Amino acid sequence: MSLSFSFFSKPFPLHSQTYFFTHPFPPPILCFSPKFKTLSLTITAAAADADAADASTSPTPQSRNSASFRTKPPHQVNVLVVGSTGYIGKFVVKELCRRGFNVVAVAREPSGDGTRNVVERELTGAAVCFTDVTNPASLEQSLEALAVPIDVAVSCLASRSGGIQDSWKIDYEATRNSLAAARHRGAAHFVLLSAICVQKPLLEFQRAKLKFESELAGEAAKDPDFSYSIVRPTAFFKSLGGQVETVKDGKPYVMFGDGRLCSCKPISEEDLAAFIADCVVEESKAGRILPVGGPGKALTPLEQGEILFRLLGRKPKFLKVPIGVMDFAVGALELLAKVFPAMEDAAEYGRIGRYYAAESMLVIDPATGEYSADKTPGYGKDTLEEFFARVIRDGMAGQELGEQSIF
Ligand SMILES: NC(=O)c1ccc[n+]([C@@H]2O[C@H](COP(=O)([O-])OP(=O)(O)OC[C@H]3O[C@@H](n4cnc5c(N)ncnc54)[C@H](OP(=O)(O)O)[C@@H]3O)[C@@H](O)[C@H]2O)c1
Repeated sequence: MSLSFSFFSKPFPLHSQTYFFTHPFPPPILCFSPKFKTLSLTITAAAADADAADASTSPTPQSRNSASFRTKPPHQVNVLVVGSTGYIGKFVVKELCRRGFNVVAVAREPSGDGTRNVVERELTGAAVCFTDVTNPASLEQSLEALAVPIDVAVSCLASRSGGIQDSWKIDYEATRNSLAAARHRGAAHFVLLSAICVQKPLLEFQRAKLKFESELAGEAAKDPDFSYSIVRPTAFFKSLGGQVETVKDGKPYVMFGDGRLCSCKPISEEDLAAFIADCVVEESKAGRILPVGGPGKALTPLEQGEILFRLLGRKPKFLKVPIGVMDFAVGALELLAKVFPAMEDAAEYGRIGRYYAAESMLVIDPATGEYSADKTPGYGKDTLEEFFARVIRDGMAGQELGEQSIF
């Protein structure tokens, strides 16, 4: 239950809402949209907290949108993006705005020296809604304050650390909160950015993602007016660019085993964002799990290193580390974590590193149980070689590697 005022400096392109009013008031929430030049103020009653705390994701009848959004022109389709400030999220927002959708980008309040202006500049073209996706009540209130129905929600949320608790908090709970809030605002379709590695779930963030994937599919199974697209990309360019600058500085390219333990079909942020934007309205991508890699053949670490040395015009210099070294380090961390539970995340980071050192980011062929480059769809046009050339020239600026720089 809420009282909401919206101030528009030009006709708001989205639909209108009805508001209610009760007492007592929690602090008001402000959402500002530079694109639409709107300011919304919502004063929401405690009853809304109780509503929000209800984990039900079903839309209320009055907020239900239908799949008819697929036939509307983009400027009549409202898309909510959570995780909009992440590596992929930013590109998804940009691509959706470029295609003409009305984008509401959800961001958390900037911390430290960050300001809202900086975030808003990064998300130019979208209406930015500052809220807390980990808090269902404040998320619901903030979306209500925006006073617009949602047709489609896209989640690019991910734990920044890959730590055990954080993975469950973000990859599962916050994503689930976002689904519920979007459904309550009428969302008829949900696009989830997941990861190809959940096919072989050995890590906590993979289990958290899989749990959400299965609940999302369950939601669609219950409601014929609701659909989903689960996007499972292979490796991002940023995850493979970590050695470009050290190699440029004359150091060897480090790889595990003979450099052929794993391979991937890497995809650029622009190409992946375009694929995710396709999922927003394309019916052929609804109700499906969609593995996706970049164009071209699958590349082993050895081949990636060879590309790098060729671009630098140098003779290849490799440092081959036995995978047993990784196993020893993970074993030691797991032992320490048994004695010092505070080290559980350190052990998990070790397992994450071990996983990506030896597991391919390719589709597992159900017939053979083996990774298959042929079964991994390629999309887009950007190549890893072009990306390496850019990093050699401009450095890794803008390629945030995350807290532990291993995924
Ligand atoms: N790296 C790869 O090669 C690869 C390959 C395939 C799939 N993937 C998957 O792709 C997904 C997205 O990756 P990415 O690199 O774009 O992620 P990212 O850059 O780490 O972005 C994560 C997003 O989640 C938000 N978030 C995290 N913790 C939050 C919290 N406590 N409260 C509110 N917001 C929070 C971040 O907000 P802030 O900006 O405010 O922190 C950011 O918007 C992940 O699920 C990953 O598993 C990655």
